[in-house]
Amino acid sequence: MDLKGRNFLTLKDFTPEEITYLVDLAAELKEKKKNGELVNHYVGKNVALIFEKTSTRTRCSFEVAAHDMGMGTTYLDSTGSQIGKKESIADTARVLGRMFDGIEYRGFGQEIVEELAKHAGVPVWNGLTNEYHPTQMLATLLTIREHLGKWKGIKLVYMGDARYNMGNSLMIACAKMGMEFTACTAKEYFPSSGLVEQCQEYAKASGGSITLTEDVMSGTKDADVIYTDVWVSMGEPEEVWAERIKVLSPYQVNKKVMENAKETAIFTHCLPAFHDLKTKIGQEVFDKFGMKELEVTDEVFESAQSVVFDEAENRMHTIKAVMAATLGY
Ligand code: CP
Ligand code: NVA
Repeated sequence: MDLKGRNFLTLKDFTPEEITYLVDLAAELKEKKKNGELVNHYVGKNVALIFEKTSTRTRCSFEVAAHDMGMGTTYLDSTGSQIGKKESIADTARVLGRMFDGIEYRGFGQEIVEELAKHAGVPVWNGLTNEYHPTQMLATLLTIREHLGKWKGIKLVYMGDARYNMGNSLMIACAKMGMEFTACTAKEYFPSSGLVEQCQEYAKASGGSITLTEDVMSGTKDADVIYTDVWVSMGEPEEVWAERIKVLSPYQVNKKVMENAKETAIFTHCLPAFHDLKTKIGQEVFDKFGMKELEVTDEVFESAQSVVFDEAENRMHTIKAVMAATLGY
């Protein structure tokens, strides 16, 4: 499998075999790291990390993975660089492409990361856009395989805003890998019909399926994986909280949902999560709306079924695999 020179912008661009290769490579690199075996033949290479939105996991994963592999990193955010204000994405891409061997971008519209990739001349990696979060998907897939042993036939239920990056990306990943994807949410938060149709095609080829339902009990029945995400994403206005809380509260992941899933079911979340009052936004939402836990209860988040920190760790191993493969392993 040769992915050298490829961009990593959305899993739509990758075959199931290529996705499997990237997850396998991540598992191999994880094992090597645990055994203290260095994979650092990228000395002399450098990567640029552009973050127009904030991050803990994605930034640290790119930095640690790059450093493990012997590479240098430069972090750029929208306040400390010329990006957007004084310099277009196309010009930025052509400058960074002359200095760096790869570029990560986290920000707003997918068209921005595509523009960057078009002009950079080096691999560009999507670290999250409004539409997609493909590096998160590799971590999800690795975590599912570690806990449940396979992808084919696994029923993954996504609860929450399924029109945004996480819902879209999970639907694509599941459809490609032969999984049974269910978006269990209010109709207005279903993924777009265009993307659903495209994923139905992937599912036909892989033996997977796509279900959209508003019914929590039938939607989560016998699920293998329950997944959720914040109800309000980065970059969205504060005013949408009231509507999201009203419409998405019935889709909170709680004990009743987990009991309706399979006994062996796992719970996961891309993180960060609002499951208690230990965050500034969590406290503000509580003061205004009186809810102390939002998309997931603290009980489920802290339960033995929760694999959220395994998935968080796997961000680093999978991002390392993406960089290694596209820079040439
Ligand atoms: N899951 C995820 O992308 O986390 P960060 O926003 O912390 O990078
Ligand atoms: N939907 C969330 C995902 C965070 C990893 C956001 O875009 O903020």
